Formats: sequence, structure tokens, C-alpha cells
Amino acid sequence: MKLYNELAEWWPWMSPHTEYEEEASLYLEIIRRYHPNVKTAVEFGAGGGSNAYYLKRHFDMVLSDLSKEMLQVSRQLNPDCEHIQGDMRSIQAGSTFDLVFIHDAITYFTDTEDLLAVMKNAKKHLKENGILFIMTDQFQETFRPGTSHGGIDKDGRGFRYLEWTDDSDPNDFVTETEYLYIMKNEKGEIFRESDSSHSGLFPMDTWEKLLASAGFRATFERIHYTAEPGIYYGIVAEQIPAG
Ligand SMILES: C[S@@+](CC[C@H](N)C(=O)[O-])C[C@H]1O[C@@H](n2cnc3c(N)ncnc32)[C@H](O)[C@@H]1O
Repeated sequence: MKLYNELAEWWPWMSPHTEYEEEASLYLEIIRRYHPNVKTAVEFGAGGGSNAYYLKRHFDMVLSDLSKEMLQVSRQLNPDCEHIQGDMRSIQAGSTFDLVFIHDAITYFTDTEDLLAVMKNAKKHLKENGILFIMTDQFQETFRPGTSHGGIDKDGRGFRYLEWTDDSDPNDFVTETEYLYIMKNEKGEIFRESDSSHSGLFPMDTWEKLLASAGFRATFERIHYTAEPGIYYGIVAEQIPAG
């Protein structure tokens, strides 16, 4: 997507980190219930690092992402964290952790083989009692087509977007999202861009089976955001001891 590449500098105007405080605290509560003593974590697909900005107060975090432009945005917000570039299917963070956290970035995979590769790679990054926490945006059971908008003004610049997500073929495992962006720079000049993405739409049962074949036992935890109606679940994946 253009948003994660040539338009990445606009990310803090599209999705300011202050909008992530509540969700980060809900995730922390779940993480602590399953692992009360997380000291180290790696995030795959950390993007602008907005969740990490709140989570890093509770444990050390290494932040990884495919896009070097998004890592640059996160470095400005999280200069105290190590940043590494790589694909979450294959990245090697060079250590093991108490927690692997994957937020909405995992939603972009539309193929179960890719999801399985991510899960297997997450397992390689976990200490013996470490957990994987996945916060995908959507499941087949709860998906509703929808439209949203947002963006803010800050430091003399402004950004607004319209986002429309639909499921054109209910028989595949893919949803389509179209975006319109309007940007205003410091001189007041207006620019317009469009973008599009595909996301995976799998039933919970598929997630559970994939996690099991990667060596995890999955538990679905319902999440209630005050500002966002809809039904959301996080997946806590605990490692199944070998043998
Ligand atoms: C919506 S942003 C993540 C925002 C993040 N959750 C936060 O708290 O700021 C999605 C990110 O997923 C990253 N991404 C997409 N595919 C990826 C992959 N295969 N491996 C790693 N990162 C990926 C994109 O580069 C982008 O930065």
C-alpha cells in the first residue's frame, strides 16, 4: 500500500498514536492474564509503533516491520526501542522473547500458508513459556462490510481519509478495502491519493487449526472498545509442550 511506503510520513496524521491508548491497555490486561511476568517482547508488523508506545512502558520491546518508511515513523515515536526490518514470515530477531505480539498487520495475509509461516516463525522467537498474542482485524463469523473515516490536523498539516471495506465474493477468504486520502501540507496545498488493499477473512476454526499445527493452543478473547462498535477477538496462543 502507498500508505506504508511513499505516504508513510502521513501515518501520524491518519492514525495518531493517542488513539491506541485504550486498546493497548485492553491487550496488556489479556497478556498479563496468560503471562503475568512478560519482560521482553517482539512485535511483528509494528508499523508506526502506536501500540508499542503504550506497551513498552511494561516490558522491553523490539519492533519489526516490512516497510523501512514505517520503521522510520516508529523510530520517531519510540527512539528507545530496537527496530528491525523484515517480513514476519521469515524475520529473525536474533533472540527469544516472553511475548510475540502481532496486531492488525497479520490481517493482510489472504493465504493460510502465509499465516502458518508467521505462526511457525513466532514460535521460533518464544521462550519456553512465552506466548503469542494476535489481534487480527476480522473473522468470517463477525465480519460486516463497513465505511469509516478519520484523520487529524497537527503541526500545520492535515489528513483526512475515507475507507470502505467490502466482501465481493463471500465464497473466498478475502475482503477488499478502498481508500481515499486528502492531504494538506504546511503551505495549505491540497493533495489527493487513493489506495487499496486485500485482507484475509478466515473462520476462527481455521485460525485454531493453523495454530495447532504450529504447536499452539488458541483461546479467543472478546475485546470491547468503547469507541468502536463491532465484535472483536484477540487470539492468545500458548505453546503446547513437546512430547
Ligand atoms: C496498520 S500498520 C500497523 C500499525 C500498528 N499496529 C501500530 O500499532 O502502529 C500495518 C503494517 O503491517 C506491515 N506489514 C504488512 N505486511 C507485512 C509483513 N509480511 N511482514 C511485516 N510487516 C508487514 C506494513 O508495512 C505496515 O506497517
